[in-house]
Amino acid sequence: MLQLSHAALNPADLYLAEGRYPYPVNPPLPHVLGRDGVGTIVKVGDGVKNVVEGDRRIILRSDAGVFRWGTFAEQLSISADSLTPIPQGWSDEEASCASLVYAAGYRALTMWEPLKPQSVVLVTGASGGVGVATVQLAAAMGHIVVALSRNEEKQKRLRSLGAALTFNPENPGWPEELRDSLKSRGVDLAVDNIGGKLFPDVVAVMGEHGRISLVGELAGPVPNFDTGTLFSRRLRIGAMALGYSSPEETRKTWEELLKVMTEAGARPQIDQVFMFDQLHEAFERLTKGPMGKVLIRINP
Ligand SMILES: NC(=O)c1ccc[n+]([C@@H]2O[C@H](COP(=O)([O-])OP(=O)(O)OC[C@H]3O[C@@H](n4cnc5c(N)ncnc54)[C@H](OP(=O)(O)O)[C@@H]3O)[C@@H](O)[C@H]2O)c1
Repeated sequence: MLQLSHAALNPADLYLAEGRYPYPVNPPLPHVLGRDGVGTIVKVGDGVKNVVEGDRRIILRSDAGVFRWGTFAEQLSISADSLTPIPQGWSDEEASCASLVYAAGYRALTMWEPLKPQSVVLVTGASGGVGVATVQLAAAMGHIVVALSRNEEKQKRLRSLGAALTFNPENPGWPEELRDSLKSRGVDLAVDNIGGKLFPDVVAVMGEHGRISLVGELAGPVPNFDTGTLFSRRLRIGAMALGYSSPEETRKTWEELLKVMTEAGARPQIDQVFMFDQLHEAFERLTKGPMGKVLIRINP
């Protein structure tokens, strides 16, 4: 049993609450949302060897908040296989919000054959939880990162986190400006959190044999998409879904990405922390477009 100190919000919590979660099975009601969090172990089940009472642990991406009750609660019953120690020097706030979004970013970057050093990586929705994580990881892996955000202030922050170039996706000239900046090169890998009407622009800036990792579709379905735009550059599009990983795969991903973050000195970015009874306000903040992660403080 884990006594939670902080939990982080994700758009998927909203999708579940609104019956829009794109998985075939939804949890029985009543349900407690929340996938991310950090806390102290207050009770250990019979036969569990790898943790003791008093240990502080992060929850790795698991069924918590999906098919089991989640982290928007004072206490949570969870398998010790889904827990991991807090990396040295991280605050509780940083620890509460990293495991899901950094795993999503890392998988999206590594789900194809390995990228050559100095590849061009485009990140849409770059200011969000997954976006910031992907920008930091791609920069730490030695790639040239292009980040899209509709907000100038957030573009500036993204450059300070490792993006070489930033653009506003609502400016219709951005694909042309990017092509000019890259000279004759196109994008090698795009990590797309947005979908919707932005997607054809993402396809337009891809280079030969470019790959597009689909992570989210915050702007909904892609209207009137022409598959003919994929042929001449032999583009590939693939969906990444963390939910289908085993606890072993999830832990391996966490260990690999933590190594990349530690070597680069990258840390989770917090947008805002709300008190537990301000969960509705916290969700409002999330839907307005954060810069990093939105958290709630439960048992400080
Ligand atoms: N496949 C998986 O396993 C997996 C795992 C984790 C997350 N996801 C999905 O990945 C997506 C991103 O998650 P997140 O946690 O990064 O979200 P987030 O923290 O809410 O941020 C997304 C960012 O995208 C931009 N944005 C939001 N709505 C937009 C719209 N309609 N059009 C254009 N830009 C928009 C905003 O940036 P600006 O305002 O700065 O433009 C916002 O800051 C979600 O759909 C989530 O469910 C999937």
